[in-house]
Amino acid sequence: MVSAAPLSIVILAAGQGTRMRSTLPKVLHPVAGRPMLAHVLDTARSLSPHGIYVVHGHGGEQVREALDAEDLAWVEQAEQLGTGHALMQALPAIPDDHRVLVLCGDVPLVRSPTLAPLIEQGGIGLALLTITLDDPTGYGRIVRDAAGQVQRVVEQKDATDAEKAIREINTGVLCATAARFRRWMGATGNDNAQGEYYLTDAIALAVAEDLPVITAETRDPMEVQGINNRQHLALVERACQRRLADALMTEGVTLMDPARLDVRGTLACGADTVIDVGCVFEGEVTVGSGVSVGAHCVIRDARLADGVTVEPHSIIDGAEIAADCNVGPFARIRPGTRLDAGARVGNFVETKNAQVGPGSKINHLAYVGDAEVGRDVNIGAGTITCNYDGANKHKTVIGDGAFIGSDTQLVAPVKVGRGATIGAGSTIVADAPDNQLTLSRSRQTSIPDWERPKKD
Ligand code: UD1
Ligand code: CA
Repeated sequence: MVSAAPLSIVILAAGQGTRMRSTLPKVLHPVAGRPMLAHVLDTARSLSPHGIYVVHGHGGEQVREALDAEDLAWVEQAEQLGTGHALMQALPAIPDDHRVLVLCGDVPLVRSPTLAPLIEQGGIGLALLTITLDDPTGYGRIVRDAAGQVQRVVEQKDATDAEKAIREINTGVLCATAARFRRWMGATGNDNAQGEYYLTDAIALAVAEDLPVITAETRDPMEVQGINNRQHLALVERACQRRLADALMTEGVTLMDPARLDVRGTLACGADTVIDVGCVFEGEVTVGSGVSVGAHCVIRDARLADGVTVEPHSIIDGAEIAADCNVGPFARIRPGTRLDAGARVGNFVETKNAQVGPGSKINHLAYVGDAEVGRDVNIGAGTITCNYDGANKHKTVIGDGAFIGSDTQLVAPVKVGRGATIGAGSTIVADAPDNQLTLSRSRQTSIPDWERPKKD
């Protein structure tokens, strides 16, 4: 049965991308935090193909380095002689009976359900994805006969005025067997306005062979939006963000404004989590249920358990926040931080490589780095772990139930015992014993008959 033939996917990605005006190859420009080509690869992989071929040109080494994987074959198109020529570079490796689905590396939002009917029909004849646009300028137009049958595709630069009026366009996505593509591309010349080998010549050739040419149409223009400049990139970025926002809302997340959310990587959230405006999630972020993230937070590579509250303007990076913790506003949680259940880290507090035990509080203006803080510890405002001696980092250990008075410097390596109390304003350079008051502070004196100087 024809439709059971194996599927090979060819991704055309050799275009120069000059209009991006960038030193970065176009297909590596990120959409939602990942190279645009990575999105196309995701979609390709979701179709479980036999093989994926990426046709690269300019900057190929860099692209390959960024996205290399065992299931990809890289094909070089040394000179960009057109889409037909690009496909031809990949065809020698693909067996005759395979269906070949052609995708573009700079069209990242195409979805697999849209591609399914093309793959289905691609074994029988030629299947192509089209869309009807209000402004079709620049695209190849779908020319149909009086009966509505596709006759050919004419490129903008080769089109007559009547053809330019056609609003149904070729998206660049098409599918047929390798044997047929091989035959058609062999018969294609470059005698056209651009002097290129057009992949779109395949359509007229299929019609000439009386093969069925079927079209599938998408209604979502963003699905077939190509990226040729930074304006397109911004457009696709927004559309992608909107999709991610929709998916989160479907999972039971409240977004105060889905248009003001940025996910640059992956964000998984439990139900009844509420995310206020202007938050940026980067890398891999997992958020539990019933979490509240205040406005304008940046959360990167972090795990937040159920019931966590993050107040506005906080930054959480490389950290693990256990259930019911309270973070911020204006907190900076740096890599290696672990906050245990119910811990609180307040405004203008920076933590780094610090384990903070359950129920402990660091509520204001503190730096806690390279530290192990026990349970139910209270760290007063202005406390600093002096972890760096200019050459090496040292550890501070604070026992359960300790109370660190405000404006204390803990000069590491140093240990504060369980239940210990440190007097405010102390500079602690040696271990403080369990359950005792330790302070280092000059004695307070008052001079009873002292008078303020008077102005002459
Ligand atoms: C092509 C189609 C056009 C369609 C449009 C949709 C042809 C002749 N025309 O236009 O009908 O409306 O896509 O966007 O196919 N590429 C290569 N090597 C090359 C040339 C292109 O790999 O030598 C790649 C590009 O990187 C890109 C894709 O092919 O991913 C499409 O190329 P692009 O120049 O954007 O499209 P057009 O040729 O203008
Ligand atoms: Ca072109």
